Amino acid sequence: MGRQFNEDTLTAEVVKRLGKTRSPRLKQIMGVAVKHLHAFAREVQLTEEEWFEGIKFLTAVGQKCDDKRQEFILLSDVLGLSMMIVALNHKTAPGATEATVLGPFFAHGAKEFGYGGDLREGCTLKGDDVWVSGRVLGTDGKPVPSAVLDIWQAKADGIYDVQDPEAEFELRGRVKANARGEYAFASYKPKFYSIPMDGPVGELIRVTTGNHMRPAHMHAIVSAPGYQQVITHVFVEGDPYLDGDAVFAVKNSLVAKYKRVNNAAEAKKLGMPNPFVRLEWDFHLSPAPKGKAKAKSRRAIAPSDALA
Ligand code: BEZ
Ligand code: FE
Repeated sequence: MGRQFNEDTLTAEVVKRLGKTRSPRLKQIMGVAVKHLHAFAREVQLTEEEWFEGIKFLTAVGQKCDDKRQEFILLSDVLGLSMMIVALNHKTAPGATEATVLGPFFAHGAKEFGYGGDLREGCTLKGDDVWVSGRVLGTDGKPVPSAVLDIWQAKADGIYDVQDPEAEFELRGRVKANARGEYAFASYKPKFYSIPMDGPVGELIRVTTGNHMRPAHMHAIVSAPGYQQVITHVFVEGDPYLDGDAVFAVKNSLVAKYKRVNNAAEAKKLGMPNPFVRLEWDFHLSPAPKGKAKAKSRRAIAPSDALA
């Protein structure tokens, strides 16, 4: 170990001391993180006042977190880090549904719905009624039996149920596909909304990009035994914010047509009001990697897990 270091020798010493780290992967991650952090401070010639502002900001991000709010996920999302990690870890197999950001509003414990379930049950705000239906298929085009679709989306005011401490679950559910891979449910057509701007991340956005809107979307996590789970979105074609999503999550392959239907007989058959909106959307799953009993999955992080 050495004693006295300057801006040119300090980095190597910090990395050298990490040599004792038991886990080789942690050693690598910490070493590279230190190198980049030091390089960043050197490149911008960071002052003490500026770094203290940084520390105050990170403290405020932590203090904003609770069992319902995960401001660090939001920070990772707006910095593009979440989508960078998705891009690195989820190279989509040909024909498979693309993955995108999880976001901070997934929650465990949502109600289960069978084919044709109504996610509008108990909703405090109305929207455009939409009938969502489709199939869960393998990349070989064959139906995937026993798939579960975790679905969630914002209410008509752009707020998620979990953002309101008093609210019950709304527009959220675990939808079970049938043995032929078919699923269907009723919901409301998603609308664009702002990411939460009432915390330190919102303040950062205000003084930097000003870019806080997300294009309308429905979230889905699709899981089935023997297949890789996909965490994805379905976006609404024509949305004004598709170019410029605050969290960089749009993929062209995930943009869908929500079609207006004016057909009283069809509406009656589906138990929908007339007119209504229809989304037909298939999800395509890759087979789980061979030799793995369980499908590789990104563990969906509920806000409450973050504190566990
Ligand atoms: C969301 O889509 O729910 C979301 C994703 C990232 C940041 C904020 C919200
Ligand atoms: Fe969302």
